Amino acid sequence: MTAPAIRVEQLHYRYPDGRVALDGVDLSVAPGERVAILGPNGAGKTTLMLHLNGVLSATSGTVEISGIALHRSTLRDIRRRVGLVFQDPDDQLFMPTVAQDVAFGPANFGVTGDALTARVRTALEVVGMAEHGDRSPAHLSGGQRRRAALATVLACEPEILVLDEPSANLDPVARRELAETLAALPATMIIVTHDLPYAAQLCDRAVILDGGVVVADDTVSAVLSDSALLAAHRLELPWGFVVPAR
Ligand SMILES: Nc1ncnc2c1ncn2[C@@H]1O[C@H](COP(=O)(O)OP(=O)(O)O)[C@@H](O)[C@H]1O
Ligand SMILES: [Mg+2]
Repeated sequence: MTAPAIRVEQLHYRYPDGRVALDGVDLSVAPGERVAILGPNGAGKTTLMLHLNGVLSATSGTVEISGIALHRSTLRDIRRRVGLVFQDPDDQLFMPTVAQDVAFGPANFGVTGDALTARVRTALEVVGMAEHGDRSPAHLSGGQRRRAALATVLACEPEILVLDEPSANLDPVARRELAETLAALPATMIIVTHDLPYAAQLCDRAVILDGGVVVADDTVSAVLSDSALLAAHRLELPWGFVVPAR
């Protein structure tokens, strides 16, 4: 039996100011699964995401990635396996050019020379940014910055991709293009989103987090069809949206 890609058990996290953001989260994700994490503002979605590759470390509870428990000694290995795409692309882009930003991660993991050049080229091609490697991230559109941030993570060839609000602040075309890119990727995927149609398009399963705990975990169509459940957690389908049957 293969280990789950992600196994989180009884995860608790309290911020230094005393705020409890995660209050006993249990979540298991199989390899290849695509899971949407839904929930109102302040639910703990970003906090959970930041535990999956050890940006934050649990107050109590465990995180396991592909059967490897997250500890100080496994942090490097786990960071290579789990790629986080932050909500704000500017948190991921800090070099003079896009190509340098994309090279940064794999170089840090020891990739050099032609292999590094190939990683950068491939990652930029996958996100449709092959023409823009020499540009400054500061001069890109919002949609292009989001793609460049995704490329910095893809260049590390993670087996698990975790995206925080990937469609936020994108215009409709950029939003659709990013969805097409994500749909074509083979990685296990966690997509934190308020954008319920995005969840429906890209994920098979949806988890609702609220108050730092998992309050629903089912197929995306079952969750999105339950209007009372959605309303109870401040989630709303756009007007006229019909949940596709899966
Ligand atoms: N750096 C921080 N210090 C203190 N509390 C925080 C910090 N970041 C988030 N929180 C609190 O933790 C809870 C969960 O936040 P977050 O994980 O950002 O939720 P979400 O991503 O679902 O909106 C909220 O109550 C939020 O106010
Ligand atoms: Mg958040």
